[in-house]
Amino acid sequence: MKIVTFQTLAILSWQVCIGYGQVVSPSTNVTNVAIDLLDGSHILHFLDVVDAFGHVSARNPDNASQFIMSFAIAPALATSQSLVTYEIDNATAVQLTFNTSVTGDAVPSGFLERYIHSQIYNAFPNITGVVHAHTINVISFAAAEVGMRAQMGSAGSVGTLANGTPIFDFDSLPTSILPENAPHNLLIGNEVLGDALADTFQNGSEVVLMKGHGMAIRGTSVRNAVFRAFYTMQNAEVQSTATLLGALALGGQAPVGLPPRVAMDATVTFESDSLLSRAWALWTAQVDQLPLYVNDLRS
Ligand SMILES: *[C@@H]1O[C@H](CO)[C@@H](O)[C@H](O)[C@H]1NC(C)=O
Ligand SMILES: *[C@@H]1O[C@H](CO)[C@@H](O)[C@H](O)[C@H]1NC(C)=O
Ligand SMILES: *[C@@H]1O[C@H](CO)[C@@H](O)[C@H](O)[C@H]1NC(C)=O
Ligand SMILES: *[C@@H]1O[C@H](CO)[C@@H](O)[C@H](O)[C@H]1NC(C)=O
Ligand SMILES: *[C@@H]1O[C@H](CO)[C@@H](O)[C@H](O)[C@H]1NC(C)=O
Ligand SMILES: *[C@@H]1O[C@H](CO)[C@@H](O)[C@H](O)[C@H]1NC(C)=O
Repeated sequence: MKIVTFQTLAILSWQVCIGYGQVVSPSTNVTNVAIDLLDGSHILHFLDVVDAFGHVSARNPDNASQFIMSFAIAPALATSQSLVTYEIDNATAVQLTFNTSVTGDAVPSGFLERYIHSQIYNAFPNITGVVHAHTINVISFAAAEVGMRAQMGSAGSVGTLANGTPIFDFDSLPTSILPENAPHNLLIGNEVLGDALADTFQNGSEVVLMKGHGMAIRGTSVRNAVFRAFYTMQNAEVQSTATLLGALALGGQAPVGLPPRVAMDATVTFESDSLLSRAWALWTAQVDQLPLYVNDLRS
């Protein structure tokens, strides 16, 4: 039996569409990234990293000046027809990634906070995946003004900075970034706010906590950013529990976390292609069991 893959169909439909001179099907590289983006959206929801809100994006593998992300839709519900190609320059929509005849204003409205993604890609040329999420047990840390430090090998990219992960505090931004008459709604709704968030990243941690709001994660691929987001959530659980246990222990103290050398070496191991692929194989098998999640690029 011959299995016709989506890639084969993409090439066939590309040949058909050239005749019409209208819709250009994405390349194999874009299709592969889009498959990961849809899986990543569904996995983040399945793993409770995101709820109705939150988003994941990828730099366009065919054009480093663009990124791909769904329009404003709950991540669990994203399909290929929700994916939009955006300019990194100004976060405006270029076209639907899988229907290039839908351009500009005809593209459904994007996330108000797409500037989180555009400005992180703009600030860090070799970042190719970004996640933003409102993960509950992560929000507790910025609320208490406690930075997070890596407590286990799989969360090494949380880092070992002395004060922990940097904290972005929307409400204490200068008026040059957040004018008095602008909405104080915590949302990163323009380039200036996006730049301020991107500037908050520090070498040695791939995570910024956003007070009253959530977190931003930068990664070297969609899979890597999703992995980091999940294990940042797990790390929050471990660090909170260890902090409570530390307070209860005789002469107790807060957990110090992993030593820098250990966190660094563990990150190299856990974020290797082989371990990342093992996690991804499990997570895609899990979302495939549930009809809620539809990845129409991988059927
Ligand atoms: C597709 O991606 C691979 C791996 O990153 C790269 O080697 C190749 O040049 C890309 N193909 C195109 C046509 O850009
Ligand atoms: C890459 O993207 C930029 C910004 O959208 C666009 O101006 C440029 O033409 C694109 N390059 C190619 C080769 O498509
Ligand atoms: C957004 O940026 C792109 C790439 O630089 C540019 O071509 C386009 O005109 C800009 N659009 C708006 C609305 O500023
Ligand atoms: C692309 O979008 C146009 C406009 O909404 C629609 O008429 C067309 O059917 C779509 N094409 C595909 C392949 O989905
Ligand atoms: C990212 O870029 C920096 C230089 O800006 C470089 O030192 C680093 O090795 C790059 N990382 C990757 C994964 O390519
Ligand atoms: C962070 O690392 C990058 C690349 O490795 C380097 O260019 C930059 O100067 C570093 N920033 C700080 C504040 O050390």
